Amino acid sequence: MKASTATRTLLLTASTLALVAQGKAPYLDPSLPVEKRIEDLLPRLTLDEKIGLVHANGMFRSGGVERLGIPYLWTADGPQGVREEGALDSWASAGWTNDFATALPPGATVAATWNPELAALCGKVIGEEARARNKHVMLAPGLNILRTPLCGRNYDYYGEDPWLSGRITVGYVKGLQGEQVAACIKHFAANNQETDRGFVDVQMDERTLREIYLPAFEAGVKEAGALSIMGAYNKFRGQYCCHNDYLLNQVLKGEWHFQGSVISDWGGTHDTREAALNGLDLEMVTPLPGDANFLAKPYQAGIERGEFPRAGLEDKVRRNLRILFATGSVDGRRPGSINTHEHQEIARRVAQEGIVLLKNGGSLLPIDPAKYQRIAVIGENAVRTFAVGGNSAGVKAFYEITALQGIQSRVAASADITYSTGYVQPLRKLAWERDAAGVRTSQLDPTYLAQAKVLADRAVKAAKEADLVIFVGGLCHQAYGDDEGLDRVDLQLPSDQDVLIARIVAANPRTVVALIAGSPVAMPWLDQVPAVLQAWYGGSEAGTALASVLFGDISPSGKLPCSFPKVISDSPAHRGGPRAFPGEKGSVHYDEGLLVGYRWFDTKQIEPLFPFGHGLSYTTFSYRALSVATDAGNSAATVTCEITNAGSREGAEVVQVYVQPNKPSVVRPIKELKGFVKVLLKPGETRKVTIPLTGRSFAYYAPEQKGWVAEAGDYRILVGSSSRDIRLSGSYTLAKTVQVQ
Ligand code: BGC
Repeated sequence: MKASTATRTLLLTASTLALVAQGKAPYLDPSLPVEKRIEDLLPRLTLDEKIGLVHANGMFRSGGVERLGIPYLWTADGPQGVREEGALDSWASAGWTNDFATALPPGATVAATWNPELAALCGKVIGEEARARNKHVMLAPGLNILRTPLCGRNYDYYGEDPWLSGRITVGYVKGLQGEQVAACIKHFAANNQETDRGFVDVQMDERTLREIYLPAFEAGVKEAGALSIMGAYNKFRGQYCCHNDYLLNQVLKGEWHFQGSVISDWGGTHDTREAALNGLDLEMVTPLPGDANFLAKPYQAGIERGEFPRAGLEDKVRRNLRILFATGSVDGRRPGSINTHEHQEIARRVAQEGIVLLKNGGSLLPIDPAKYQRIAVIGENAVRTFAVGGNSAGVKAFYEITALQGIQSRVAASADITYSTGYVQPLRKLAWERDAAGVRTSQLDPTYLAQAKVLADRAVKAAKEADLVIFVGGLCHQAYGDDEGLDRVDLQLPSDQDVLIARIVAANPRTVVALIAGSPVAMPWLDQVPAVLQAWYGGSEAGTALASVLFGDISPSGKLPCSFPKVISDSPAHRGGPRAFPGEKGSVHYDEGLLVGYRWFDTKQIEPLFPFGHGLSYTTFSYRALSVATDAGNSAATVTCEITNAGSREGAEVVQVYVQPNKPSVVRPIKELKGFVKVLLKPGETRKVTIPLTGRSFAYYAPEQKGWVAEAGDYRILVGSSSRDIRLSGSYTLAKTVQVQ
């Protein structure tokens, strides 16, 4: 007698349970390859269970097949630490008291270190903490290119250059995934502004997509093996990125052979058919109740009606299971650890190495505490903490050392430190109003305006009475600052800081300005202020790191990951009117094409305030003996040169290699970063550095050939300390045109 379907299912369940109990089902055998385990598990899953693996069933959770020992897939933000625990069914906090984490510095700071090894250590720390919190996927790192200095989320990303961003991404992803935690690189793709991010349709030409906006993702997938990728909120060429056939099916999965899972941004899914067919593998929360998610009941019904192929569902399930198996989640993972001494040390190193010394006239820095007894610290950012805030990237830090605390613990024993607020950044109303001239202005609280003058006067008085002033200002994670969901409206420092800085430096010329901000700002006072540092956001150890640079315990070695324009209208995305930023009629057009960041400033010969790659040290470096050796295939080269620490302090230099095509047959940026290395040198020490270039370093993307072409001809190889401080140049000739990978 044939067993009925129900009986067969019962028998299967009983036998599986028995196997599960004995630990003998092949999918439970950790010694088998992941793919074998997945293929063994798949047929054991019911349709309901498979569907359960492709959509959310909690704000940060999906899946789980209890009867088969498959745990829920838990995700967490990302990227600067493991975010506080959220409620299962809302954005509210879960109210835990054991979900504090180490706050690592955010993306822009990590990029400013130009040190992929440090990025890997960030990933490692976050991985260890994620494991301790039972998270399988970190929604990190964020690697969208800085197209405009005004993007509210620049602080969370790796700057304007695809090569730099790619190297930092690869470091971070490898460090994280080495800890049994999956990376979810985000936001794929072209999420370069927060204004209208939920629906704006991004239009750009194919070369710009391939050469500027995709390479860091490509490196994260191909080189670092990222296990997941997050679709962006915006549309790309008319279709939402979370179910964009071109980006996901054709490029990511077709060309790059991505085997991991495409996870939607939270609420970024809009349509069942597209979600089913266009490459999305896991739908994370929509405003709809769980079962009504586009990839829940509606998808299941479509499969049952024969509208969507079952193979498509199985492909999605496979990809999500891959994460669970690859992270050891089915077998039991190593224990994690939180906020260890090592984690704190790494947070400090990243913050230190990210600090960029923009200007150091008059040798004010490093500050000799013996020379300055009365130090006035001025500015609200000196006492603010920044780890919480900015929205999804915020971290409930165990502790965060403010700039003032850092300075106090470094020199309080020898100096008399006074503090005055000087300015405050008041909460702005979210609505913008237009003044008579049609300019957008924010509404400030009137009590603030009344207080502001008093605060400023007190600060100027304190400056006058001090031997030295350290002004700590900048932005913060408030609406229209460095904040997710909104862009800034201009380059200006908020709260009249520019006026205050000018008054302070007039009262005391021995003024150091340290900016805590995740994006470029204008500096109309630059000529008057002798020393300026870009300290970014520094995480748990921010204040310690800043003090160690200010007082010379370490030489600064950060370099700008983005150009600082003098005025916003110099910036490429801001030359084309609203069509180019923030978009009009629902679309934004990247009319500047390839000319993003320094590619624009250098090609168009526009002087920036500070160029990409810029960053001074307390020592000086000399460059010599450049050689560019050709490999046998003549499509790659090895650049070597010697770097000497010519000063009297230890310091690290980032040697940058730019490639400049001589007479390209297609439009190309005048030069592009294609390699770099960071070297730490003792005074007087010389080191030979080697920077490999590949065929891709010379190539442009040829849409008609659907591939990369390194064109025959002459190239200059420019080696320097910033994009505008080229110290050595050599040449290289490609004998014949070749297609490269
Ligand atoms: C952000 C993502 C984040 C997600 C979950 C979204 O609003 O864009 O970066 O991972 O929320 O918090």
